[in-house]
Amino acid sequence: MTKAARNAARGLVRDFGEIENLQVSQKGTGDFVSNADTQAEKTLVFELTKARPNYGFLLEEGGEIEGTDTSNRWIVDPLDGTTNFLHGLPHFSISIALERDCELFAGVVYEPISDQMFTAEKGQGAYLNNNRIRVSARRNLKESIFATGIPFAGREGQLEFLNELKAIMPETSGVRRFGSASLDLAYVAAGRFEGFWERGLNAWDIAAGIVLVREAGGFVGDPEGNNDMLKSGNIIATNNHLHSNLTKILTKAAVK
Ligand code: IPD
Ligand code: CA
Ligand code: CA
Repeated sequence: MTKAARNAARGLVRDFGEIENLQVSQKGTGDFVSNADTQAEKTLVFELTKARPNYGFLLEEGGEIEGTDTSNRWIVDPLDGTTNFLHGLPHFSISIALERDCELFAGVVYEPISDQMFTAEKGQGAYLNNNRIRVSARRNLKESIFATGIPFAGREGQLEFLNELKAIMPETSGVRRFGSASLDLAYVAAGRFEGFWERGLNAWDIAAGIVLVREAGGFVGDPEGNNDMLKSGNIIATNNHLHSNLTKILTKAAVK
């Protein structure tokens, strides 16, 4: 998985350097797909198929590809943080998860520009460039930073988001919108953010990051207190200590 990520990253880094020459086609309001991400996805499929010829795929760009081995599939976002990428902001990643027997088994989130490789495998802990990472130990909301995603043009849930933000703002040390959900989760795993919440995501945005947070000792669920994140696309991930606080604030904001 790390080899595939590094290979795909080469093209992304090259294209990032030549961002102005990129041919960009519009996929939907506020949601662009560039040559860069289709190319990266091709490389990822090639490398992962070379390593495990029978596994299937769930790809952001290419959709489902069924494998002959039905218990294993890769869940891939070849470029998470496309808007940042297209604006020349160096905060984007490649996200690859392995789902085994319907459970998330391994995750890799690679940030090419800063060369940060986040990896985790079920039961084996989480790592950043081969160094063990753990979620933050902060227990006090007032000292805590939370990452989120702000729904952009064409996305539902804008009023709901404003209610949530209004409820969380006065309770914490700050809220961040960095623009890559997989990196938001990786940063929770690395103890940089105490937590992250966002609604309306897709499985490929969060699958790898979920493994990272869990293996770093954090807690992942959906805002309704269930475990349905991959299907609902709604997620809360925290350092564990602050999970019930964040869930309560979001629940209270939702009933307003
Ligand atoms: C997006 C990023 C962003 C999140 C959006 C996603 P993309 O993925 O993860 O942080 O707020 O909802 O769609 O389009 O850059 O792969
Ligand atoms: Ca994404
Ligand atoms: Ca993407």
